[in-house]
Amino acid sequence: MLKTAIKAAKEGGKIAKRYFETSLEKREKSDSTIVTKADEEVEAKIIEIIKGKFPEHGIVGEEGGFSESDSAYQWVIDPIDGTLNFVNGIPIFSVSIALAKNNEPVIGVVFNPITSTLFYAEKGKGAFWNDQKISVSDQNATRAMVSMGSSQEIKDKDTIRELFKILPKHVKTVRHLGSAALELCYVARGGTEGFINLGTKKWDYAAGSIILLEAGGKITDLKGNPWEFDEKYFIASNGIIHPELLSAMKEI
Ligand code: IPD
Ligand code: CA
Repeated sequence: MLKTAIKAAKEGGKIAKRYFETSLEKREKSDSTIVTKADEEVEAKIIEIIKGKFPEHGIVGEEGGFSESDSAYQWVIDPIDGTLNFVNGIPIFSVSIALAKNNEPVIGVVFNPITSTLFYAEKGKGAFWNDQKISVSDQNATRAMVSMGSSQEIKDKDTIRELFKILPKHVKTVRHLGSAALELCYVARGGTEGFINLGTKKWDYAAGSIILLEAGGKITDLKGNPWEFDEKYFIASNGIIHPELLSAMKEI
């Protein structure tokens, strides 16, 4: 199943790369995020590959791909996570594919086709970056870089604005990179130390979350309680800076 996920991410990525830095028509969806024909073509390709191998599995994709199923397995697909970066020629976006079993991620693959960066993980088997085993960093808060993702909702944007004010008191530097999937993987690889997610969709964080956990990272809800897959508000970190991020959230 991991092999299929990687193949689908790479094939989808090829399509996204072909469209990168071309003039694509942007359409606004009801949740005010953007979609292009590249998103739709990438999703169709991924679903074709997955259905070819596992026709009995359920599927949910950001651009409408949906297969109802009685199977315990469901694929959660974001064909392009970071569409706004993608359409604006900013190479921080990814193809994100997760497989959940009984609503718990067991496989995650995140692929940036521009840099050919591949992250993947399988439950209990560790996390990998281009076939090299990865783990979270051992940096403390004074040296930490933390990024944030938010939904389009005003309340989430307000929280982000507050966090930009408060977080620099707790950590070294903050970012808003625009691809939740990649941002979770950056923490997993030990490049950044934390990622705060405010209301993004399941397909944005599904694959990245298992990659982060398999790399030894920690995820809790915003109050520090154990995280569940359906919870769209969470703090992900290398574990070491987690108390700092929880304190920052408390100040809001
Ligand atoms: C977006 C990214 C981004 C987050 C946005 C999402 P999309 O995903 O994950 O980091 O801040 O809210 O919509 O729409 O490009 O797949
Ligand atoms: Ca997307």
